[in-house]
Amino acid sequence: MAPDPSTLPRHIGIIMDGNGRWAKKRGLERTEGHKQGAKVFRDIATYCSELGIEAVTFYAFSTENWRRPEKEVHAIMDIFRDFLAELEQREAENEEMGFRIRFIGDKSRLPADIVSLLDITESRSAEKKRTTVNVAVNYGGRQEIVHAARLLAQQAVDGTISVDQITESLFSRYTYTGDLPDPDVIIRPSGEMRLSNFLTWQSAYSELWFSDVLWPDFTRKDLDQMLSDFAKRNRRFGGV
Ligand code: FPP
Repeated sequence: MAPDPSTLPRHIGIIMDGNGRWAKKRGLERTEGHKQGAKVFRDIATYCSELGIEAVTFYAFSTENWRRPEKEVHAIMDIFRDFLAELEQREAENEEMGFRIRFIGDKSRLPADIVSLLDITESRSAEKKRTTVNVAVNYGGRQEIVHAARLLAQQAVDGTISVDQITESLFSRYTYTGDLPDPDVIIRPSGEMRLSNFLTWQSAYSELWFSDVLWPDFTRKDLDQMLSDFAKRNRRFGGV
């Protein structure tokens, strides 16, 4: 059933998990799971845009994912390259990309060619207003908090701000999602029930929604189910 627009979350966070298990179940290489996961990412991002959701943040690669075998890390980087090249191609054909895309995380450790593709993609889509799609790459929630703290500390040292001016709302503005509302709901598929260093600052009052479906099997129907469950949640933000 189509979701009621008045109950839609403004910002959704999604942990794309279960790609490896999906591939294993089919006797495929783990990288095949990531490829399928990337297709689902495109479809769900498009669906969120169609629904008019303001922002959706996908966890694509964590600061801890470098610990995976080199071959798998390379394969994931190649998936990013393909995706970015495809976006560039579509833009070149003047097709409507539909959403503003941003990459959040520490880009400094990523291969240089990927960083320049990320920058091109971000600037080309910057004016699109309908939906912001954040892709977290080399992202860690604690790393993000330290990054924001350093920016603020530097300003205090430089005398641009006083220590008393450092409040929750100012701090929020220095996170990677500083111009967006905090996520109303975070989705974790594949049966795991933890946040794994995702949106650590921003998730303080997020609803959590878990599903046993592996990410490569996740469909628009699953998103509809989440939206219907979310609409029934009673969010009190510490009140009564
Ligand atoms: C977690 O599943 C998945 C990842 C660490 C990689 C996710 C990356 C993609 C889906 C590609 C995204 C592509 C674009 C274009 C943004 P897992 O490997 O931990 O699965 P498992 O828990 O079953 O082993």
